[in-house]
Amino acid sequence: MLAIAILAAGKGTRMKSSNPKVLQELAGISLIERVLNTCKELNPEKLLIIIGHEAYKIKDKVGHFANIEFVYQQPQNGTGHAVQQLIPSLQGFDGDLLVLNGDVPLLKTNTIRKLILRHKQTNSSVSILTAKLPNPKGYGRVFTNSKGEVNKIVEDSDCTEIELENNLTNAGIYCFKWNQLKNVLSKLSDNNKQNEIYLTDTIKELPKSSHIEVEDLGEVYGINDKYQLSQCEELLQTQLKTYWMKQGVYFINPASSTISEHCKFGNNVIIEPQTHIRGYTTIGNNCRLGPNSFIENTSIGNNVSIFYSVVKDSILEHNVNIGPYSHIRPKTTIKSHCKIGNFVEIKKSDLGENTKINHLSYIGDTVTGKKVNIGAGTIVANFDGKDKHKTVIGNLTKTGANSVLIAPISVGNNVTIAGGSILTDNVPDNSLAIARSNQIIKKDWKSKPKNNQK
Ligand code: UD1
Ligand code: MG
Repeated sequence: MLAIAILAAGKGTRMKSSNPKVLQELAGISLIERVLNTCKELNPEKLLIIIGHEAYKIKDKVGHFANIEFVYQQPQNGTGHAVQQLIPSLQGFDGDLLVLNGDVPLLKTNTIRKLILRHKQTNSSVSILTAKLPNPKGYGRVFTNSKGEVNKIVEDSDCTEIELENNLTNAGIYCFKWNQLKNVLSKLSDNNKQNEIYLTDTIKELPKSSHIEVEDLGEVYGINDKYQLSQCEELLQTQLKTYWMKQGVYFINPASSTISEHCKFGNNVIIEPQTHIRGYTTIGNNCRLGPNSFIENTSIGNNVSIFYSVVKDSILEHNVNIGPYSHIRPKTTIKSHCKIGNFVEIKKSDLGENTKINHLSYIGDTVTGKKVNIGAGTIVANFDGKDKHKTVIGNLTKTGANSVLIAPISVGNNVTIAGGSILTDNVPDNSLAIARSNQIIKKDWKSKPKNNQK
């Protein structure tokens, strides 16, 4: 039987953030969600999260995970104090308790499985994950005896000069026999430099402690401040981009681009510098994205190019060309062979095949047919100050430069709208719509004396 407790109550003082530390994000996913995702595959009997500092924010973020139980720690007097709070929730529990630090986000499920296996094979009271770090500063140091059993863990701030030279560190991942742990929890004190009750002090009290060393040091990266957060982001980004480069995606300047774990790329894709692809974005074959683009939660077909543009929560079908300087806002679908050009903003609209919007337009809440040509400066006025309204534009219709379509409005198929028109009424198929004042020419205006001039 396995119970898991994730420690997430700490203030995260070193992070100097208005948000709890475990809500900081790596590639768009918070540290706590990452740890929870790792736990899911272990199918624990109980999954407990210890929260305290700004607990409501953490509850909001992870409340949707199935079968999690929140345990409160108030005040936050250290990791040992956090685990003391589990006693009521684990009444009658007689299995192993896996304790995970909520700020160690890159740990893999398989590594935890290895730790649990070692724990069982060695019949230990506690088994911990360790790492030999080239720069162990900040981590608790692990001291072992000649049999390789763990004698004690000394926190960085409590180490003597000699102890600091030991680079075998505690990763903050523990598998305890709960029945033995619960009996020693009351023996912990806060007699240390930080005046905190340390979970690591249980080692000295328990009969047998073993450890396994991780192979991949990145897995046990603990995040306490913004520097460590950025180091971890860099590590994760390198892993993700290296994976995709091996699948044939070409990042021209990998260091300048970021992607998420949920991005999927087809064949022969080129990612230009300074291009960021976030969320659940899928990209087809032969696409060229960037430079300087931001693409989030978007489904992209084959042969698409996006140049200096922003695209969010949208669908771009095959052979679509976006940019430079286009802004495609959420819930937009752009069908194949469309071209969206300079300084064009599109919001919650469906554009039919072969539609062109090349210059300086705003199109919102609009459905267009096929082969529509939106002239330079066309604006759909979709908001009346209170509500948003829909616009429909039929197949083969052309809007002249600087047209304004005041929604709700329906413009038929094969319509031409004269430049500078302000349309307030529907336009039938096959017609020309002109809605502007006629040009007046006053001949020889400049040479005639004005009334008040002598
Ligand atoms: C801890 C370990 C250290 C280890 C390192 C690995 C202790 C005493 N030290 O140090 O040996 O090398 O992790 O990353 O455990 N938390 C609570 N309640 C509290 C305090 C902390 O829930 O009262 C939570 C934090 O939110 C965090 C985790 O416990 O998720 C670890 O706390 P942190 O303060 O980061 O401990 P470290 O100094 O990193
Ligand atoms: Mg930490």
